[in-house]
Amino acid sequence: MNSILFYKIMAKCYDLLDIIYFHDKKNSPRKAVLDAVNRNDTILDLCTGTASMAIQIAKRYPNTKIMGIDISKDMLRVAQNKIHKEQITNVELLSMDATDMSFEKERFDKILVSLLKLPTPKRCIEP
Ligand SMILES: C[S@@+](CC[C@H](N)C(=O)[O-])C[C@H]1O[C@@H](n2cnc3c(N)ncnc32)[C@H](O)[C@@H]1O
Repeated sequence: MNSILFYKIMAKCYDLLDIIYFHDKKNSPRKAVLDAVNRNDTILDLCTGTASMAIQIAKRYPNTKIMGIDISKDMLRVAQNKIHKEQITNVELLSMDATDMSFEKERFDKILVSLLKLPTPKRCIEP
């Protein structure tokens, strides 16, 4: 099964992951990411999924700007609904393939890749 079909099926229940596995906030990998962020960072969240990590960063650090990209429109739809519901204004979402991106050089302070393994990018940052 390819990734897009897999996440089409999983999108509506993906957030159970945080409830089941990451409920212990002190030992959650989400905490390690939150601790690594500076309050004014501009962040690229690769393969943002349902934007759980992006939303946590956005809420903890309201001055950050986060761009979440994902190839699955189904995951992005769930993410967009959450952002709307929680009235988050510092997360933007884009439908994009993480192995073929075109952002300008030095646009982001940090690039986040959480809970996944990517193949080697064909093209990452364009000059
Ligand atoms: C395990 S989820 C991780 C979601 C999120 N990073 C998190 O911390 O919960 C993996 C995500 O990677 C996305 N993905 C897989 N291959 C991708 C690619 N080439 N470009 C962009 N997104 C991709 C999937 O659509 C899915 O939403």
